[in-house]
Amino acid sequence: MSRLVFILNGPNLNLLGKRQPHIYGHETLADVERDCRALGAELSVDIRFHQSNREYEIIDWIHEARDIAGGIVINPAAFTHTSVAILDALNTFDAPVIEVHISNVHKREEFRHHSFVSTRAEGVIAGFGTQGYQLALRRIARLIDEKK
Ligand code: DQA
Repeated sequence: MSRLVFILNGPNLNLLGKRQPHIYGHETLADVERDCRALGAELSVDIRFHQSNREYEIIDWIHEARDIAGGIVINPAAFTHTSVAILDALNTFDAPVIEVHISNVHKREEFRHHSFVSTRAEGVIAGFGTQGYQLALRRIARLIDEKK
């Protein structure tokens, strides 16, 4: 099983740290990437870290992951609640998927309570702030180890 993990981020997450910090905190996406890369080195996991505001780019990265990755960590952001296309793409990917939300979506507006991606994900992490990415990465590394 490949030890390459794709960490994918959806729309508006490029503004992390500036965007509604009372909800999403003060850390930037660059901080998150740095921490994931440090943890990846510890876990012997290689990371491809991407963010896009465009649905098709996220779909293309999932397609790219199909042949080379051992897992995907994805925060689809608002596409979580709308995108059958991202769900369909994830359903073409055979290795583990962990869904991450920085905020606790279940404590927020009702339209955030439904996730298309959750029907595919092995696990969902919500409300742990940006630390959720590291928890997800640890879980993916464990699942990769178990498949060896
Ligand atoms: C989010 C939650 C989504 O509802 C929202 O649209 C986001 C971020 C989170 O990380 O908490 O953009 O995925």
